[in-house]
Amino acid sequence: MRIIRAKDYDHMSRQAANIISAQVILKPDCVLGLATGSSPIGTYRQLIEWYKKGDIDFERVRTVNLDEYVGLGCSDEQSYTRFMRRNLFDSINIDLANTHIPNGKNPDAKSECDRYDSVIRTLGGIDLQLLGLGPNGHIGFNEPGECFQKGTHMVALSSETISANKRFFEAESDVPRFAYTMGICDIMQAQRVVMVVSGAAKADIVKAAFFGPITPKVPASVLQLHRDFTLVADEDALSMI
Ligand code: GLP
Repeated sequence: MRIIRAKDYDHMSRQAANIISAQVILKPDCVLGLATGSSPIGTYRQLIEWYKKGDIDFERVRTVNLDEYVGLGCSDEQSYTRFMRRNLFDSINIDLANTHIPNGKNPDAKSECDRYDSVIRTLGGIDLQLLGLGPNGHIGFNEPGECFQKGTHMVALSSETISANKRFFEAESDVPRFAYTMGICDIMQAQRVVMVVSGAAKADIVKAAFFGPITPKVPASVLQLHRDFTLVADEDALSMI
């Protein structure tokens, strides 16, 4: 595990964007695993800026997103499909046909999870997976539990996650109760994993995840076992370690 200490959110975002842009430059048809939430927005903003300057080319890049709310799709403003278009895809030269996100509109969980796992397999796995960190230690939507879930699965969101994510919705009751998420095995099989974390509110969970025991009760703790994991965090998020 490597830790990059950033001064603040903007610095964290530039550091993470540097790692991603190096990946794209070295392997122009790489598979990027992408994340949502407020943590990676600055990273995407920086990538867009470098794309506009002509420094990065996304024409051949393929992407797989971590997760999507069950019931939401591209017509829903709060869906992760719309999030990705708004915060990255609509501002770079990526071919939308090369971008993959679980289909929250598919009510058949088994067929959707099988389909998504086969998408990841067909792409040949993930070269670089970008992650945020949920306040309860979740990655993607892998919530704390009794075991690590391997592949894409449907998850019942914890009350903590619903409460943390209600800021993106008009009311807490609008937050979907279920999501499709990539599994821990999908994430662990990525060649490289980069996590962005900022703010004092995440300091306790950063300590528990990366300086505590490896346990499914703190899903991100499994990343301690990844062979190429980089935590890019600002000083506030690292204040407890
Ligand atoms: C959501 C996403 C996660 C993300 C988490 C943290 O629950 N499913 O992938 O890491 O939010 O979000 P934020 O970065 O806004 O704290």
